[in-house]
Amino acid sequence: MLSFRFLCSWLLPSLLSRGLLAAAAPIREDLPPDPCANTTGLYSRQDLPPDPCAKIAGLEFVDPADAIACQKSFPFNETLRQNVLSVVSRVFDFYTFEDFYLDSPPPFQESTKNIRAELERISNTPYATDYDFNMDLYDLTNQLNDGHTRWLPTCYLTYQNILPAPIVLLDEGVFIAPDSDSLFDQFGSNFTDYFAAKGLDWRRLAGAKVLEIGGMPACDYIDSVARTASGNYLDHNVRVNSVLSSYQLPNGNLSQRLGDLASSLVLRQTSLKFSLIPVDSPSGNPECIDVPFVAFFGGNPFDDGPSYWDLYCAATNTTNGVDQRESSEASRSPTRAVRVKVEAGSPSEPDLPPPFLPTLPQSDGSNGLMNTYILPGNKTGVMFIGTFESEQSDNNDLAQFPADVVAAVATFQASGVTNLLIDVTNNGGGFICLGLFLHQYLAGTNFGLPGFQTTTRANPLAQKIVKSDIAEGLNRTVSVYSPDNWLFLNGTHMPLDFDYYDPTLPYVINGQQDPTSQRFTDFCPDVQVPGPIPPDPPFDLSNVVIVGNGNCASTCAIFTTLMFERHQTKIVTFGGHPDQSIEYKGMAGTQVLEWVALDTEIKTTGLKDDPLAPPDLLVNAGMRYNSRSAYSFFDENLPIAYVSEPPQFRFPYTAETYNNPEKVWTFVENQIFG
Ligand SMILES: *[C@@H]1O[C@H](CO)[C@@H](O)[C@H](O)[C@H]1NC(C)=O
Ligand SMILES: *[C@@H]1O[C@H](CO)[C@@H](O)[C@H](O)[C@H]1NC(C)=O
Ligand SMILES: *[C@@H]1O[C@H](CO)[C@@H](O)[C@H](O)[C@H]1NC(C)=O
Ligand SMILES: *[C@@H]1O[C@H](CO)[C@@H](O)[C@H](O)[C@H]1NC(C)=O
Ligand SMILES: *[C@@H]1O[C@H](CO)[C@@H](O)[C@H](O)[C@H]1NC(C)=O
Ligand SMILES: *[C@@H]1O[C@H](CO)[C@@H](O)[C@H](O)[C@H]1NC(C)=O
Ligand SMILES: *[C@@H]1O[C@H](CO)[C@@H](O)[C@H](O)[C@H]1NC(C)=O
Ligand SMILES: *[C@@H]1O[C@H](CO)[C@@H](O)[C@H](O)[C@H]1NC(C)=O
Repeated sequence: MLSFRFLCSWLLPSLLSRGLLAAAAPIREDLPPDPCANTTGLYSRQDLPPDPCAKIAGLEFVDPADAIACQKSFPFNETLRQNVLSVVSRVFDFYTFEDFYLDSPPPFQESTKNIRAELERISNTPYATDYDFNMDLYDLTNQLNDGHTRWLPTCYLTYQNILPAPIVLLDEGVFIAPDSDSLFDQFGSNFTDYFAAKGLDWRRLAGAKVLEIGGMPACDYIDSVARTASGNYLDHNVRVNSVLSSYQLPNGNLSQRLGDLASSLVLRQTSLKFSLIPVDSPSGNPECIDVPFVAFFGGNPFDDGPSYWDLYCAATNTTNGVDQRESSEASRSPTRAVRVKVEAGSPSEPDLPPPFLPTLPQSDGSNGLMNTYILPGNKTGVMFIGTFESEQSDNNDLAQFPADVVAAVATFQASGVTNLLIDVTNNGGGFICLGLFLHQYLAGTNFGLPGFQTTTRANPLAQKIVKSDIAEGLNRTVSVYSPDNWLFLNGTHMPLDFDYYDPTLPYVINGQQDPTSQRFTDFCPDVQVPGPIPPDPPFDLSNVVIVGNGNCASTCAIFTTLMFERHQTKIVTFGGHPDQSIEYKGMAGTQVLEWVALDTEIKTTGLKDDPLAPPDLLVNAGMRYNSRSAYSFFDENLPIAYVSEPPQFRFPYTAETYNNPEKVWTFVENQIFG
C-alpha cells in the first residue's frame, strides 16, 4: 500500500482538495522529512506547477472545477485562522440569538447548534487550504439559518455557480422552470458557447417533469438543499421556497431568482444528475441527464493567484471600521447599521421574461423599488414592495418610500379602491424605519406607536460602549449604540446620557443566563413624510392582504409581523412542500450590524484596545450579526423570530401563477375578496 511519505507535499493538498483523501488520517509526525517539503528550490521558473487562477483569468464563464482549483490554491494559514476566529467569536458575543441555538424550539429545531463548540472544533481542525477553513466557517454560520448572522469571505464569494436548470414546485409536481429555454439567452454568447462545448442542450430541459435529482426523489433533494445550503431563514419550508425559482423586484427591475438549487455563491458542485421527462420526449420515458454548472465571474479582473489574492482576499481599507470621531461629516454612515440585504454578493439574476411582466399600467408611487397597480374592476390596489429601501437612502434621507406610499394610497382612494394587496415576495428588507412607517400609515396615528419592544445583548463590551457614548456625549450621527438612537416604550426620546444597560434585565434562554438591555423602541426622525399621517386607516384593515413566499427578510418580517400581530391582517403564502407547515416571516431578527459597523462602534468609543475588543480582520471578509431582538405581542418574552406564525392562507403555485405576479394578484383577489 502506498504510504503518504512517497507523495510530494504539493500533491497531497491537491488530492485532499479533490476529496480523494478526505477521510485519510493526517500525516504522522514520526515519518522522515518529506524530501519535497521545500518546493521553492526544486523548480525552475517554467517548471512551476501552473497557477490555476491564471488559467481562468479574464474569462466570464468558466468550468467550476477550474474556479475551485483557483480558490483552493491558497494554502491554509494558521495566523489567518486565529485572526478570523478571534473576530468571529467576539462578534458572536453580541449575537442576540446565540443561546437559542443550543436547543432551537420547534418548528425551528433543524437549526440547533452549539456555536462555541463548533468554533472550538474549527479552531482545531487540520485544513489543507484556506478555502477549506473558510468553507467550514461559512457552513457553520450559514446553517444557523439566520441571514442576519453570517461569515462572508469575499475571497470565496467571487463566482456564481449557475445551473441552466432552475426548478419550480407546482401543484402538479417538480419541473424545470418552463421558461428556462428563453431565460438564459440574456447571459450572452459566452454562456451559450460554454454549454454548446459541453454538449448540453439546456433549452430542451425547459418544462421537463423532474423525478429525481442527485440520485434522490426530487422532493428529498430539494429538502437536502434547504437543509444544507440555503441558509438565511429559520423555517425549513421557507428555505424550500428559496431552493426554487421565483419572481422578485430587488432593485428596480423584475427579475427571476434562479433559486438555491440553480445558483450558489460558493463553488462546490460541478454537475447535477436529473432523472426527468422532457416535454418533447418521444417515448414519455425518463431520461438521465447530468447537467453541468458554469461559474460566472463578474468582478474586477485578476491575472493570476497573487493578483486574485490582493483583489479579493487580503484586507482592504474598508474591511475594518474607522473612528468616526475623526471622519468628516459626509463620510459618516450610521444608518448602514439598520438595513440588510439577504444576498452576500450580487448574484446575477436574469430579467423576468416579458410574458411574465405585469400588463396593467403602473399606478402612482411606482419607482421600481415599489410598483403599484389597480386590478381590473377598481376594487383592489396592489403595492408590490420589492425592498424597504428609498432612492435617497444613502443620505439618511428616507423620503422616496413614504412619498410613494402616500401617492399610491391617494390614487387608490380616488379610484374607489377598497382592498389593498401588498406583495412582499422575495423582499430582502431594508430600513426598519420604512417598515414602521408603512405600518403606521396603514394603521393611522390613533393606533399609537408603530414598533416592537426591542433589546440588545448585555455583554460586558456592549455595556462599555454605551458608557463611553455617554461619557463622550456621542450621538446617533456617529454611534449606533448611542441612547440617542432609541425611544423609551412611552415614545419619549431617550436622553443622550441614559444608560440603558443600567441595570441590565435578566433573560434566560435554554437554561443560560443571557441578560439584555432595557427595552426600547425605534427612533425614526429621518423618515420624511409629505404631509401629516392621517389618524385613521386609509383602508379597512380587514381588507388588507399580504402576499408572499416566506422569503421575507428583516424589515419585511418586521412589517408583516406587525400587521399580523396587531391587526390580524390576512396573509397568503405561496409554495413550499404542501405537507409541511410554513411561516410567513422568514428572517425576523431586528437589526443587523456588519462587522465594519461594529468595529467602527468600538473604535469610535475609544475601546479598540480593550481586552474584550476583537482585532482588525486581516482578510477581506465580513461577519454580520443580529444585534437586536424584537419581542412578540403574542408572547412578550419571546423574540418574533422564535414565535411560530403560520399564514392563514396557503396556495401552491400552478403552471398559470408561477413566476407571474399579476396572475398571483388576481388569483388572490378572487380567493380572498371574491
Ligand atoms: C528551500 O530551498 C532553497 C533552494 O534549495 C533554499 O535556498 C532555501 O533556503 C530552502 N528553504 C528552506 C525553508 O529550507
Ligand atoms: C465573453 O467573454 C470575454 C472574456 O473572455 C469578454 O471579453 C467578452 O466581452 C464576452 N462576450 C460577451 C458577449 O459578453
Ligand atoms: C500567514 O498570513 C500572515 C498574515 O497575512 C502572513 O504575515 C504570513 O506570512 C502568512 N504565513 C505564510 C506561511 O504564508
Ligand atoms: C432595468 O431595465 C431597463 C431596461 O431593460 C434597464 O435599462 C435598466 O438599467 C434596468 N435597471 C436596473 C436597476 O437594473
Ligand atoms: C481605499 O483605497 C482605494 C484604492 O486604493 C482608494 O481609492 C480609496 O479612496 C480608499 N478609501 C479610503 C476610505 O481610504
Ligand atoms: C376604473 O377606474 C378607471 C380610472 O378612474 C376608469 O376609467 C374605469 O372605468 C374604472 N373601471 C371600472 C370597472 O369601474
Ligand atoms: C451630534 O453631535 C455632533 C458633534 O457634537 C453635533 O455637531 C451634531 O449637531 C449632533 N447631532 C444631533 C442630531 O444631535
Ligand atoms: C417615558 O418613560 C421614561 C422612562 O421610563 C420616563 O423617564 C419619562 O418620564 C416618560 N415620559 C413620559 C412623558 O411619560
